[in-house]
Amino acid sequence: MSNVQPLVAGNWKMNGLKSSASELKTLVDKLNAEPVSGVDVMICPPATLLLAFSALVEGSKVKLGAQDCHTEASGAHTGDLSAEMLADSGAVAVILGHSERRADHGELDRHVRAKAEAAWRAGLMAIICVGETEGQRKAGVTLDVVRRQLKNAIPDGATAANTVIAYEPVWAIGTGLVPTAEDVKQVHGVIRDELAARFGDEGRGMRIQYGGSVKPGNAKELMSIDNVNGALVGGASLKAEDFLGIIAAYKS
Ligand code: PGA
Repeated sequence: MSNVQPLVAGNWKMNGLKSSASELKTLVDKLNAEPVSGVDVMICPPATLLLAFSALVEGSKVKLGAQDCHTEASGAHTGDLSAEMLADSGAVAVILGHSERRADHGELDRHVRAKAEAAWRAGLMAIICVGETEGQRKAGVTLDVVRRQLKNAIPDGATAANTVIAYEPVWAIGTGLVPTAEDVKQVHGVIRDELAARFGDEGRGMRIQYGGSVKPGNAKELMSIDNVNGALVGGASLKAEDFLGIIAAYKS
């Protein structure tokens, strides 16, 4: 879909201290000095940095996202953060169902679905992650896994504005391994078909990011594949220079 504005989002995971503001400042300054049009840019820092970072990105192209949320708006849930709190701290989006949360915290599709509804309730866009493990790819069930995750993790009512899908093969995350362009094209095509079948025009306009070892050196090729509408970037989003090198894939 050529009229879908791609989104390049940086997932900082459990990395970053107050001092990391210098990287964000470099990113903001460089994008102000040399604007790149036709692409949205987001950083998803740890929640501890949202409030301070929201002052830094004000008036810039860079938006902020969070990495998880609880399903409730408030209450007796020690250590958790609600979508409302994240929105209050400056986030406009939240990553949900990342494979690290699925693996570390036992998150299932139904939890991801409930969290997406909570995100919408708070006015946040949900970035819903799907993707197969290495074993699932080897067993030839990648498409079944992704279809099942889409069906069960995306709530009814998803729109192009409130939802982004991130296809992240688990075996490609943080490993330097990347699927072939043909494989990315196939999975993204299937995701597009599923979204269009269920959500019509909204599904046709929904952004489908690729994630997993996206670097400045491979971004242009990955981002030019059909139905790849941006990237979810881990390691290479921590340094402004690397992240800018990925955003540069969209420079005309
Ligand atoms: P990576 O992480 O870019 O470090 O592979 C991607 C992600 O987990 O979103």
